[in-house]
Amino acid sequence: MSKNVEALFAAAKDAFANAYAPYSHFPVGAALLTPEGEIFSGCNVENAAYPQGACAEAGAISAMARAGRRRIAEVVVVGGGGGLCTPCGGCRQRLREFASADTPIHIAGPEGVKASFTLAQLLPESFGPENLG
Ligand code: THU
Repeated sequence: MSKNVEALFAAAKDAFANAYAPYSHFPVGAALLTPEGEIFSGCNVENAAYPQGACAEAGAISAMARAGRRRIAEVVVVGGGGGLCTPCGGCRQRLREFASADTPIHIAGPEGVKASFTLAQLLPESFGPENLG
């Protein structure tokens, strides 16, 4: 693991530990690195009114925007289960707003990174701010 991925993994795992997921029992943590070298993290926060739950990636993006940062250089998502906890469709689009086609998105379990993708692999032929002219 690169130093950046190590630090992102640690932050995502820390967020994972604070996830509020009493309904799905599926905690998720996400961490974003900005080009400035800062890391922002988030966890999923579910709700008794199920559709009001928020994904970990959304929380991390919110923290980043609150700090005045507008670009995402690298991402780590930590989730449980045997499979890959890849971002949901909505979160791929949320990441798309601030990341580039080649931004690495690493998918991890609590033990470490399992797979790595670029944003373009997860969201090909995407629509973004440039499309609005
Ligand atoms: N979830 C995330 O927070 N991020 C992902 O990348 C995939 C899914 C959350 C949403 C919900 O709280 C729980 O995981 C189960 O879908």
